[in-house]
This record gives sequence, C-alpha cells and structure tokens, in this order.
Amino acid sequence: MNKGVKEIMIKIAVMGYGTIGSGVVQVIETNQDSLCKKIGEGLEVKYILDLRDFEGDPIQSKVVHDYQIIADDPEVAVVVESMGGVEPACTFVKAMLEAGKSVTTSNKALVAAHGAELIAIAKQKNVNFMFEASVGGGIPIIRALNSCLTADRIEEISGIVNGTTNYMMTRMAEEGCDFEEVLKDAQEKGYAEKDPTADIEGHDAGRKIAILTSLIAGQQVDFEDVYTEGISKITAADILYAKQMGRVIKLLATSKQAGDTYTVMVAPFLLPKEHPLYTVNGVFNAVFVRGNMLGDAMFYGSGAGSLPTASAVVADVVELAKHIGKHIELEWRPQKLEIADYKQQSARFFVRAKAEPSAVEKVFGAVTYIDVPQLNEEVGFITSELKEADFEQKAAELGSVIQRIRFH
Ligand code: HSE
Repeated sequence: MNKGVKEIMIKIAVMGYGTIGSGVVQVIETNQDSLCKKIGEGLEVKYILDLRDFEGDPIQSKVVHDYQIIADDPEVAVVVESMGGVEPACTFVKAMLEAGKSVTTSNKALVAAHGAELIAIAKQKNVNFMFEASVGGGIPIIRALNSCLTADRIEEISGIVNGTTNYMMTRMAEEGCDFEEVLKDAQEKGYAEKDPTADIEGHDAGRKIAILTSLIAGQQVDFEDVYTEGISKITAADILYAKQMGRVIKLLATSKQAGDTYTVMVAPFLLPKEHPLYTVNGVFNAVFVRGNMLGDAMFYGSGAGSLPTASAVVADVVELAKHIGKHIELEWRPQKLEIADYKQQSARFFVRAKAEPSAVEKVFGAVTYIDVPQLNEEVGFITSELKEADFEQKAAELGSVIQRIRFH
C-alpha cells in the first residue's frame, strides 16, 4: 500500500471466472497501486463465484459456489458479473443490488434484456449498475454517452461492434477468400465460436445497438425489434464489386434519428473511403457518433478479449467504489420505445442480378453499372436513393436478384 493512501479496503466479488472474470482479477493485481491512488482506498477481491474449484490456483481460497454468500456479506461493496447469458446472471445481479451492492457487468445479453429494470433497482437501493464493457469491450462508449455527450441530441450512432465479423470481412476484403474459408480460420484462431450464429447473423451486434439506442433515447429498445442481417450471405464476388467501387463491406449496427424515435438496424453496408469506419480492420471495433452540437466523433479500440474488456469492467469498479452511498442518475426508462419501421428508411442499393440492362432500367430507371469482367453472366448496378419498401417491390418485379447491399 502506498504512503498517503488510507489502509481501507474496498472488497469486491467476481461472479464468473472465465475469460473476462480472470482478466478482471489480473487487471486489479497488475495495476493495484494506481487503482488504489485513483480510488483513495485499496481494492481486494474477496470472493470468486464459479462452479469450478480451481484447485492449486492462487485464487482457490476465494472461490465460492453459492452467490448468497456474497449477497449476505456486508463487507462486499462492489460485484462484477462476468458469467454471461441472461439467467442465472439476472437473478444473481438482482440479489446483489437488493443487498445494497453496486454491480458492473460485461454481459450484453443481460443489459439488453434487463438494463432498465436493473437500473431502477439500483436507484431504489441507492447503489449503481454499470455496464461499460457490454458494448465495444475496452472502448469507453457507454460512459461517453452517459456523461461526456449529454449536452447533445444524438442523431446517429453507427458502429462496428462485433470483432469476429469485422475480422472476417477484413480477411475477405484483403485476400478475396470466401465466407466459409474465413469462418473456419476465425474459429481456428479463437475469434469465432464453434456455433458462430450470434456473431455472423448479427444478433450480438443487434443487442449492442439496442443498448446504445436505449441510452441515447432514454428508454427501452428491445433488441428483438431491431432489423438484423448478418454477413453469412456475403461472397467473394461481392468483394470484387466492392473493390471496383472503391468501397469496403462492413457489418454495421446503426441507429438514426427518425423524428421522435430511431431507425435501428444491423446489416452489411458498403462504405466509401472517406467514411471514418472504412479503415477499421481486423478484430477492432469503432463507434461513430453524430451529435446535434458536437458534430462527428469516433471511438476506436479493442472491442473484445480478456484484458481490454476487463479494463472497462475495472474502470467501472473504480467508478462504483468512488460513489459508494450515491446513486448516479441514468436515464433508461423501462417504457418500450417504438422504433421506426426500417422499410421507410431510404438508401442507395448495390444490386447483382441475372437480368438484361434493359429490364433493369425498366424497373429501376437510371442506374450506375459496375463492371467486374470475371462476372460476365450477371449485371451489377447501383440504384438511386429508394425507400426500403420501394426497393423490395422493384427487386421482386425484376426477379433474379442475387444480392443487394446498402450504401452508407
Ligand atoms: N463475439 C463478440 C465480438 C465478443 O466478436 O465482438 C465481444 O462482445
């Protein structure tokens, strides 16, 4: 303990000693001295809740299997939830808040489904519920929205918030390989799960943009309402066209102001070179924010992984430790926000079809053709700006559409 720092310990518990939980313990051990200075008191991990015993591991003496031991211990002021999934994490987190402990979580499934409810319990108990690591891993986006950008009305948030799919799209763009090949590589490297559905079909990004939109709107956005397309239908041929257009294909999670509400969507988009998200490659994440006063800002960094995510969790622990006995106001009302119908949103579309140009022009009017000599049995073209609903109608009329990707 450093001189000048009071020899008082803030005792914390970590629920779930997996990738993130073990990272949290490592961050606290590695940066113990500087953390003590920042809090003004020491930080000690008193309990680790896990199903396993971790025999022979230095943390073995801290391991408990019953969450009630933590809830019942008045010494524990702050609890980290890093178990993942909605249950039993939700039951455990509620028990901790009810017992007067502040909680931080990295669990986007829990936050997306129960964020408003858990914040309300925290307020009632005069404690705090924080979730910086649930979106963008180590990137400080939640606190930025909750405190640094509160002077603004946020008009747009568009992010690359899934490292797995960004790694895959980057490899496809750089090497021209096919989706299946790149998925296998991502699984071998540990970037993609054995069952990759949540990442490649955009569900993970959907939960994250639902959380971000709930925060900027101040009320509940259900991720089930978010229109979601993944990257599993993107092919090497699409990449050839993208290159020809000087664009890249990225899986974006976007939320755009539409009157009193937002249009929220996860889908692959074609980005031009000048877009700030164009150069975000590999497993990196980035969140682009447009405020009505601020203009544009971008947050970039490591969106996943043990230590980057744990860094955000421990930053929350520090914040929670500094605010013991004081609830920090956070607007996320439980009333559900009706998000705008994405079919009323307009975009330009890149389309591949097995059709003659005359048929294309009859349906879509003037279009811009993109010629990829290797793909001479189809036609590639860019439409003028169309409402989603109108595009769907025209695509059905043309028939034989192989692919369509939105411009951003
Ligand atoms: N699978 C997620 C990703 C992990 O790739 O971003 C972090 O939420």
